[in-house]
Amino acid sequence: SLDRKNLFEEQHKDPEGIFPRMKSIDKTADSECTSSTTVLTDGIPVKRRLGFLSGVSVIVGTIIGSGIFVSPKGVLQNTGSVAVCLITWCVCGLISLMGALVYAELGLMIPKSGSDVGYLMAAFGKFPAFMYTWTQLLVFPGGQVIKSLTVAEYISKAVFDECGPNEATKKIMAAFVLLSAGITNCISVRLVARTQILFTTLKLAGLTIIIVGGIISLAKGQFGSLTTGFDGTIDNPTTIVSAVYSGLWAFDGWAQLNFVVEELKKPKRNLPLCIITSVLLVLVVYLLVNISYFAVLNKDEYLSSWAVAGTWAEYVLPGAVVLVPITVACSVYGSLNSSGFAVGRIIFATAREGIFPECLCYLNINSNIPLPSTILIVALSFIMILPSNISLLLNLLGFLTWFFYGFGMVANIVLRFKMKDTKRPLKVPILIPILVLICCVYLVVAPFLEPVKVEFWYAVTYLAVGVVLYFPFAFFKLSVPGMDKVNTLVQYLMNAAPPQQMIS
Ligand code: ARG
Repeated sequence: SLDRKNLFEEQHKDPEGIFPRMKSIDKTADSECTSSTTVLTDGIPVKRRLGFLSGVSVIVGTIIGSGIFVSPKGVLQNTGSVAVCLITWCVCGLISLMGALVYAELGLMIPKSGSDVGYLMAAFGKFPAFMYTWTQLLVFPGGQVIKSLTVAEYISKAVFDECGPNEATKKIMAAFVLLSAGITNCISVRLVARTQILFTTLKLAGLTIIIVGGIISLAKGQFGSLTTGFDGTIDNPTTIVSAVYSGLWAFDGWAQLNFVVEELKKPKRNLPLCIITSVLLVLVVYLLVNISYFAVLNKDEYLSSWAVAGTWAEYVLPGAVVLVPITVACSVYGSLNSSGFAVGRIIFATAREGIFPECLCYLNINSNIPLPSTILIVALSFIMILPSNISLLLNLLGFLTWFFYGFGMVANIVLRFKMKDTKRPLKVPILIPILVLICCVYLVVAPFLEPVKVEFWYAVTYLAVGVVLYFPFAFFKLSVPGMDKVNTLVQYLMNAAPPQQMIS
């Protein structure tokens, strides 16, 4: 509308200030796949600056977050035995590795798209792309909530006595964690990017302490619950799936480098290499950490603890239990930051395709951050914190996430035919997407074979609501009365403007 154009011109009077940066956004936007990768650079012209090590730290920094602290209990609870629990961790690592390789292929084939939005658009068109972003509106805030609740649990473990604080106190603590990460994400992407290496180092150092503690216990001949092997194994498809979802949560984040593939030096070599190195590194670290937990704790202690690493520390480092919540906080904080950074861009990209409300693609004129979408995620996280509990969220998000990773696998297979002539710098054997697809189908179908937990119905209902919204608003583009006013308001409140491409 006229208002918007005027505001935009008004805001761009200073040609040295903002305009060159907005132009740099536009260059990518014009190319074949209109998506947000360039914007990820915070308006800095795209340079291939990420080498192998930074690539690894982006992936490892995202993957290692809350999962290794919050999932172990769920995995053991749902598998029943130590041996099957450790096997489940390996299986989750392998599924993630295979999934990541398929995404590496997609990321090199459609290098500008930055995420699933681009792959799904290329393979199937707008509808799945819309549905993907629609689910991210639940999945990402939900993920941020799991992470912040984990920090709250561990801080409580260090500060309060055995019974811990009540739920409300924990949720208030979690809200503060969310708020601080949200603020960082709104201020500067460079800040997020720079802290990534620091936090990755800190969290690896913390996990190394846990690993070394375990090795010392083993060396002393203390095997804890490791000797119980397969005792107590549960063989029920629904509970196994819950175990796998918990494990997969800990490995999730392997597609993170796809968002910044354009910034990667020698991507053909580095993308697959970074992915393989990172996922294998994480797999080894996770296995050793789990072995360390088991070497120190017996099964009852393990299952009754509400913060396994905290209970572990009470035995191994009685004087320094506080180190654990600090490690957890560093770990989760890094992962919170990098996830928040990615999702703002997914929503931005979808809005710019015209299938999400327009104001969600506006960028702050000073920082080029998609502020409206980033703030939306923080707001949704706050709402989700109220009714949530971690195990429900792990199932709910696991279901939706793997539903769409399944589509990613199908996209990979379909594009082998549909974009036959496009260069494919990396060729993963077709067996890999097929295997991962089979896992996805199992993960999505199995929860409905047994008495269904309520969260799986929530997930299906949420998808159904997405379908209902798509047709009037995205397909037929019915205009919502008053939307223009909302758009203008968002511009004023957030000092934001549409990306230049939308003006012309
Ligand atoms: N693996 C992370 C954790 O354990 C969660 C990653 C969330 N996913 C993402 N794509 N950012 O907390």
